[in-house]
Amino acid sequence: MAERRVLRMGNPLLRRVSEPVTEFATPELDALIEDLWDTMAARGGIGIAAPQVGVALRVVVFGDDGAGSLDPDPIPRTVLINPTIEAVDNSTEEGWEGCLSVPGMRGLVPRYRGIRFQGFDARQQPVEREVAGFHARVVQHECDHLDGILYPQRIRDMQSFGFEEEISLAGRLSEADC
Ligand code: NI
Repeated sequence: MAERRVLRMGNPLLRRVSEPVTEFATPELDALIEDLWDTMAARGGIGIAAPQVGVALRVVVFGDDGAGSLDPDPIPRTVLINPTIEAVDNSTEEGWEGCLSVPGMRGLVPRYRGIRFQGFDARQQPVEREVAGFHARVVQHECDHLDGILYPQRIRDMQSFGFEEEISLAGRLSEADC
C-alpha cells in the first residue's frame, strides 16, 4: 500500500463534514485503511482520519499498541468507522495536542476526560469502548476531523498555541500528532 499526502490546515477539504461509510469490506475501503496506517506510521503519528488524506468518509485509525512508548496504558490499534462519542461525564481537562495537518505546532486543548465511543471496524463488526485520558483525547481529536474541525479551533487561549520547538515544556510534548 502507500503513504498518501496529508492535507494541511487551510485546505478546504479539511473543513468538510464527511459522509458515513455505507459499504464495508470493499477493496476501496480496505485500501484506504491500509494507506491511513501507512501514512500515520510514516509521519510518526498516533492517529489519522480519512479527511486528512482528502477522503470525505467517516473513517479514523489510531493507536500503536504501546509500541515505542512507556505509556502504562497503551492505545490499541483501532479502526473506527461511523463513530459516535458521548462523554462519560462532562468534566474536561486541557492537554497538549498536535496534528499531522498542522505540522510543527502544539496547542493546549480542552477535551472530555472520559468518553464512551461506538462505531464499526472494517468488517462492520461493532466497536465499543469506554476510555479516559490521552486515549479519549485522541479519539475526540480524530472524530473532530470527520466534522471538519481542527484542534486550533478548540484552543481557549491562543497564547497556548505555538511552534513545538519554541514551547519548551520538557517532557510534556512527547505525545505524537494525530
Ligand atoms: Ni489531527
